Amino acid sequence: MSDLLIRGRLLSFLRRPDSVEDGEAVSYEEDGGLLIRNGRIVRRGPFAAVQAEAGAGAEIVDHRPHLVLPGFIDAHAHFPQMQVIASFGAELLEWLNRYTFPEEMKFSDPAHGRRIASAFLDEMVRHGTTTAAVYCTVRPESADAFFAEAEARGMAMIAGKVMMDRNAPDGLTDTPQSSHDETAALIARWHGRGRLSYAITPRFAITSTPAQMEMVQALTAAHPDCHVQTHLSENHAEIALTRELYPDAPDYFGVYEAYGMAGPKSLFGHSIHLSERELDAMADSGSVAVFCPTSNLFLGSGLMDWQRYNRRARPVRTAAATDVGGGTNYSMLRTMDEGYKVIALNGEKINPLASFWQITRGNAEALSMADRLGTLEEGSDADLVVLDARATPGMALRMETVTTLAEELFLLQTMGDDRAIAETWVAGRRAKSAISG
Ligand code: GUN
Ligand code: ZN
Repeated sequence: MSDLLIRGRLLSFLRRPDSVEDGEAVSYEEDGGLLIRNGRIVRRGPFAAVQAEAGAGAEIVDHRPHLVLPGFIDAHAHFPQMQVIASFGAELLEWLNRYTFPEEMKFSDPAHGRRIASAFLDEMVRHGTTTAAVYCTVRPESADAFFAEAEARGMAMIAGKVMMDRNAPDGLTDTPQSSHDETAALIARWHGRGRLSYAITPRFAITSTPAQMEMVQALTAAHPDCHVQTHLSENHAEIALTRELYPDAPDYFGVYEAYGMAGPKSLFGHSIHLSERELDAMADSGSVAVFCPTSNLFLGSGLMDWQRYNRRARPVRTAAATDVGGGTNYSMLRTMDEGYKVIALNGEKINPLASFWQITRGNAEALSMADRLGTLEEGSDADLVVLDARATPGMALRMETVTTLAEELFLLQTMGDDRAIAETWVAGRRAKSAISG
């Protein structure tokens, strides 16, 4: 592959911006250049300086006046739920039983798994997302289909087969032993292969017996470099049932702590209704609370207090995610727009710089991958999203009155969707236009 030189308005983050005035958290180059070689960013700086270093044969792609950011990261999504999105009228447990579990049964057909995995990654790329932490179904074939499709596209994806041995229909459960053995085999096959990582994925406490949770504990101890992902404190009925099933635990997070699941590589989807003890335990263990605003509003689950988690005396690490198909959109822009409204209902505001930090570097840090992802620093992977703040007539008109970068970002978040994604690059290759023609 020859060198690639990308020109545009480069934007990335060094840490979480405290306010719209927090320029020191932001790295911005008005006429910037990224020199990309073998899928990596090798030089970043003013375009003229980077061009002077590039070989004469470098292909130049000029994205001006658009913004070039690190590709978006989605910290929690269910690829098998593409045909569950927009299922009417149920809260979490009924929604699972009525819509989601029957849908996930279809993945006993490997051809269906391959078709949906491919469609899911198409949608990710169309929406500017280059990395996601993904739940597959209980069937290991669904994880094989997902990983194979991600590998073919060279995408940095994290995924795992869900472990669930109770409170689900026949045909959609495993056993403690089979879940252990299938997970171990998938880790051996996929973890660390190319850009792929495995997440040990007990669906949630309700669908795992204590015997299966012991297997989760054994797997996490044996594979400390794998992620762990599950659901936590999404709605009140779920919490009450969990407390009945695990009466000895002090609270919901305490169930996961008891089985060795608290830790810096552990991602807890939703994490809405938590006590101070649970938040302290999450903070002290470095566990990550994953904010899923479109899902939480759609299912009526509650308002996670992202702002307070980040700035409490013992801060809880946060991530943001679509939670497709409880979540209603593939776009991280739509996600943070809904996140802004959730936090407004909590009486606060997420500043737009912090939103874009969260869906790039913030999520990379939450996934312990910021050394390679979520930045435009030299040495990191060339996963990029190109944003057009004039993508629709209404956005273009509003842009006439925009005077700052923070205002432009807030417009992108508030009005933007897949139409605002001018291009997506995966490991230095065009990805969006390749599928949209
Ligand atoms: N809790 C357990 N499984 C799921 C799921 O698939 N989606 C959501 N939103 N919550 C869950
Ligand atoms: Zn989920």
